[in-house]
Amino acid sequence: MKKGGIVKEATRLAEEKTLHARVRRGGGAAMILRDKTKKVDMVVNLLNEALATEIVCVFRYKRHHFMAAGLSSFSAKAEFLQHAMEEQAHGNQLAERILQLGGEPNLSPEESLNRNLPEYAEGETLREMITEDLMAKRIVIDSYREMIAAVAANDSTTCRVLEGILAQEEEHAAERKCLLKILGPESKCPRSIP
Ligand SMILES: [Fe+2]
Repeated sequence: MKKGGIVKEATRLAEEKTLHARVRRGGGAAMILRDKTKKVDMVVNLLNEALATEIVCVFRYKRHHFMAAGLSSFSAKAEFLQHAMEEQAHGNQLAERILQLGGEPNLSPEESLNRNLPEYAEGETLREMITEDLMAKRIVIDSYREMIAAVAANDSTTCRVLEGILAQEEEHAAERKCLLKILGPESKCPRSIP
């Protein structure tokens, strides 16, 4: 083969090699994209689970706010309302993050009912209401910890959102424990004034 022919052949082989590399890179990118999409779908699903839980918490605390009665429930009523608003804010944060990830916040009441949420227990007395809250709150805290562990490696923004919510859930649990201590073991308040 002449010198010019060798150069041409070398150039052709180099171009072919580059093309193969591009194809390989293209295939790899598609696989990475598919993998990334799966991970984002998983995160959106987790966030929708959390959103459904927050909505149930809003209803629970609002009910407690309206139903708690008696002198010793005065501060608890205010706290229930405050926590209802904070749970609503958690729901809003989750919905915003779902949108940022390209998903849709699921606000369907029917689907929320079918999700595996902490039981919606109402409680008859103030003490029962707070005890039910505390039990539900522990489930929610565990659930946020698990979600944080699941997304920490791949999605630092979602992780920060969840950590912020978890911190406030832990504050709520601590405040519920304080209320129980203040009420004492024998304290019973009427559900409503006759
Ligand atoms: Fe919450």
